[in-house]
Amino acid sequence: MAGAMQLAQAKPPRFDLDAVRRIVGEDWKAVNREIQAQLASDVALVNSVAHYIIGSGGKRLRPLLVLLAARACGYAGQQHVLGAAIIEFIHTATLLHDDVVDKSDLRRGQETANHVFGNQASVLVGDFLYSRAFQMMVQVGQMRIMEVLADATNTIAEGEVMQLMNCRDPETTEARYLQVIYRKTGKLFEAGMQIGAILAAQTLAVEEALVEYGKNIGLAFQLVDDALDYQADAGELGKNIGTDLAEGKPTLPLIHALQRGSAREQLAIRRAIEHGGIEDLATILSALQTTGALAYTLTQAREASRRAVAALARLPDSVYKDALVQLADFAVERRY
Ligand code: IPE
Ligand code: IPE
Ligand code: MG
Ligand code: MG
Repeated sequence: MAGAMQLAQAKPPRFDLDAVRRIVGEDWKAVNREIQAQLASDVALVNSVAHYIIGSGGKRLRPLLVLLAARACGYAGQQHVLGAAIIEFIHTATLLHDDVVDKSDLRRGQETANHVFGNQASVLVGDFLYSRAFQMMVQVGQMRIMEVLADATNTIAEGEVMQLMNCRDPETTEARYLQVIYRKTGKLFEAGMQIGAILAAQTLAVEEALVEYGKNIGLAFQLVDDALDYQADAGELGKNIGTDLAEGKPTLPLIHALQRGSAREQLAIRRAIEHGGIEDLATILSALQTTGALAYTLTQAREASRRAVAALARLPDSVYKDALVQLADFAVERRY
């Protein structure tokens, strides 16, 4: 019995992202070289902030997906390396801005750039990375890719603004939340997969299948991020937890618990969303447990991940396709 209990509670083995990276070994090295090379600026503060955030690592999941998408479609060229670096630059720019907006002080296991260099430097270097990404798109030189990335960047900005409008609003619905996470997170995963397909000159049907995969792995990824904000190990996650609650950000765990909680729990959640702050953290954490809000959020993530994998049916079998299946799993099982 005791043994069974221990088994039930044992953590799943840590997912080996490096094994997936090795599948695109040379491409992976090339992307990291490209990222470093494209950071160069003769403005000292740009260099400092950009190297600080890029040098802190990150999982680089989005560029990995671009490489796998292109190779899974049989692409034999090299432009996917630039495409992957572009996606990581756009992602990094959003993180610089996001940490200012969210007043976060820990990212990738180190102090955030806004904490070290200030809000102004973070916002402006975020703009540098965005605009460098656009210079790189011109280097790729394909109008369809420009179109996809320009639209994605614009949609992400809308998503962040929509999220700002939801902040401190306890009337935020699950539908509004889903709109936000699709725009702020799903869209960039989607664009990454789509440019992989475009580079490989695939049919519209294949392109749409990869879009569907990208959108859904992105949704799963953000749903899990929002659950982890209540239950992760900050050391492992590399970010502080409880930040969504502190900002009065109504993510799915809170939205669900607000519908299902007791009168006392509803009052505490409503107050936390309206005012921000973690004074009622204990009550809220217990409401998240008793209402099954975290479990519900993870179920939604699993559903999205399943839809992502189902979309891959259109691709021929390959090690790259297998890796995409594994990453859909990682998006849900991850602890960091
Ligand atoms: C963080 O993304 C922002 C979200 C969409 C939740 P990642 O978790 O991919 O960040 P890094 O790049 O690995 O640090
Ligand atoms: C993700 O949202 C940010 C973007 C997609 C721009 P979060 O605010 O949840 O991300 P973290 O938790 O700070 O990484
Ligand atoms: Mg944030
Ligand atoms: Mg988060």
